[in-house]
Amino acid sequence: MPIILKSASEIAAMRVAGRLASEVLDYITPFVRAGVTTGEIDRLCHEYMVEVQKTVPAPLNYAPPGYRPYPRSICTSVNHQVCHGIPGERVLKSGDIMNIDITVIKDGFHGDTSRMFMIGEPSVAARRLCQVTFECMWIGIDQVRPGATIGDIGHAIQRHAEAHGYSVVREFCGHGIGRRFHEEPQVLHYGQPGVGERLAPGMIFTIEPMINAGKREVREMADGWTIVTKDHSLSAQWEHTVLVTDSGHEVLTVSAGTPARPEPLPAVA
Ligand code: MF3
Ligand code: CO
Ligand code: CO
Repeated sequence: MPIILKSASEIAAMRVAGRLASEVLDYITPFVRAGVTTGEIDRLCHEYMVEVQKTVPAPLNYAPPGYRPYPRSICTSVNHQVCHGIPGERVLKSGDIMNIDITVIKDGFHGDTSRMFMIGEPSVAARRLCQVTFECMWIGIDQVRPGATIGDIGHAIQRHAEAHGYSVVREFCGHGIGRRFHEEPQVLHYGQPGVGERLAPGMIFTIEPMINAGKREVREMADGWTIVTKDHSLSAQWEHTVLVTDSGHEVLTVSAGTPARPEPLPAVA
């Protein structure tokens, strides 16, 4: 399947879907605190999407080849969980870090975004991992312009992560997005400058680096979805959906509560 370039009207629809996905994260933020279960966070997000936004939670029953249908409406990945954590009975406690990943469908188009949440007072090491991963995402986004390559994005992210002694997860990557949840291209979060597909106006894809404090190896849990670090080190992730424009890029997953881009963006080593 080729990379699908989006028309002006499709881009307009993707802007709406992106804003709505981000607004779910805004909505849930005050509920994310010690004592709440990840299942309760899922229930609240589900209700907000379906009842208030009239969006469809894309994860619910999502079943790519080789996977059983995903059983919840959002992903909640806590501490050494890397991604695709299934909400349930787990009670959040002070010191936890958690990624909440939201994908909504509105009028047939997907918006996909995630943020890290810090519960109570995480360790200095945990906070630093969240911050550097946020910088990795933005350094990746900063590469996006016509003529740049997918490898330029991955290389910039990898350099920044490894300069801090962290590692980049290889098994999962960003992805084209539109009428389908996961489209081409694959957006690796590591790589070489100048390698891979060349970016062109109208492409829309996610950048969603998963960065481990320890080694990069991961494994899948028995639930068939939750990915954890093999060495049990902490992992963090941030995600935006990004459009390639004529002059550079536009982040589509923005809302009133979107955390500001780091200023200045740290220089890539
Ligand atoms: N939102 C994830 C991504 O960024 C995918 C989650 S698939 C699910 O690509 F089924 F686990 F929800
Ligand atoms: Co994604
Ligand atoms: Co996502």
